Amino acid sequence: MEKLLVKGRKRLVGEVMISGAKNAAVAVLPAAIMAGGKSVLENLPNIEDVSCICNTIEKLGGKCIRRDKHTIEIDCSEGIDYCATFEEVQRIRASYYFLGALLARYKKAEVAMPGGCNFGKRPIDLHLKGFRALGATVEEECGFVRAYADKLVGAPIYMDQVSVGATINIMLAATMAEGVTTIENAAKEPHVVDTANYLNMMGANIKGAGTDVIRIIGVEKLNGAQYAIIPDQIEAGTYMIAAAITGGDVLVKNIIPKHMDSLTAKLVEMNVKMEEGDDSIRVMANKPLRGVNVKTMSYPGFPTDLQPQMAALLSICNGTSVITENVWENRYQYIEELCKLGAKVDINGRIATIEGIPHYQGAKVEATDLRAGAAMILAALAAEGTTQIDGVRYIDRGYEDVEMKLSTLGADIQRVLDKN
Ligand code: UD1
Repeated sequence: MEKLLVKGRKRLVGEVMISGAKNAAVAVLPAAIMAGGKSVLENLPNIEDVSCICNTIEKLGGKCIRRDKHTIEIDCSEGIDYCATFEEVQRIRASYYFLGALLARYKKAEVAMPGGCNFGKRPIDLHLKGFRALGATVEEECGFVRAYADKLVGAPIYMDQVSVGATINIMLAATMAEGVTTIENAAKEPHVVDTANYLNMMGANIKGAGTDVIRIIGVEKLNGAQYAIIPDQIEAGTYMIAAAITGGDVLVKNIIPKHMDSLTAKLVEMNVKMEEGDDSIRVMANKPLRGVNVKTMSYPGFPTDLQPQMAALLSICNGTSVITENVWENRYQYIEELCKLGAKVDINGRIATIEGIPHYQGAKVEATDLRAGAAMILAALAAEGTTQIDGVRYIDRGYEDVEMKLSTLGADIQRVLDKN
């Protein structure tokens, strides 16, 4: 088992390049199987979740050729299987996109129920409701979902709750349905827009992605396309917080600053100095930081996927901070680990009240999920002494070259093999 050893209290200084967005990549890759031709996808992050999706495409009979570290060619022109019921599929949550993509292309799909990080109930009822609205029969059977239709027919679909996954999945299926689909109360996250842009480059007719209402006119076939994935909002946010938590001065490069607005506003409120460039943000933290209140919301609100990292930062700010987690019912499992490093946090349902402490003290902690792992790294960077972080496999799911990027900024972080 691998673990990370971090010797904290080193000020991070320098530049860091942000990779392509995980949550866009895991939607765009399954979308590529819908095309009758080859796609070349660029700026893909080199992370476990991308490998897992590519393995799934290959197991279905498609070709994934890695042109370089961040570019993959996908060719499913000769047709692929519609049953993705093998073990890989259960490993990541985003494999639910194979349902929408296969249903679009073959009007039938069988996909194992998705896994991924465990932060409470993670239903996919809205995805299935959307497929049914398009005319599909959907059956849930021990561990997998089967969906099929003679033909899919566009329909008006109102989302009971804003859901990124359901918005993208319904958009995938509707792209090749007959007629017009409207998705109302759609998610507006950058990766919804990215997936729609890629589908449009393949020949789809999707308008309104990034607003509450997406309108899709179905097309009969899609071609392959060359497409570059957007930068990762959450990785960028993690490095911005890393700069703040170490009192550092870091230029976070290859980002879309607009995507960072909710975090930028909070960091400014905390007394961090920010300088925005065209595709970068410089984060300078040379003054004492004050606690703030944070509420997670769908985009353009504060992202739930930065909530654990923000909690790590707020724990060593002056005063009391309150976090309200509005997206997931149980996303505070990592708090117990943060407390092992000295954090003082009281949890009451969806509300975490954080009393600022002067600094963390290194200890042995566990990454309980992907973003929890990021929070552990951040706390460790600010801790006195050495922190050992177990559960590195979660972090590798979503962060490319994490110890290399942090070391370049001056962190003392090493990956070691634990033989036990
Ligand atoms: C995506 C992200 C995840 C992020 C989340 C919220 C990917 C691969 N993952 O997850 O990192 O934390 O958005 O920004 O992009 N819900 C239902 N029924 C459904 C679907 C969702 O009730 O059918 C609820 C969920 O329980 C949750 C909320 O809707 O409370 C939002 O979930 P959703 O936006 O769907 O999250 P994911 O797409 O799974």
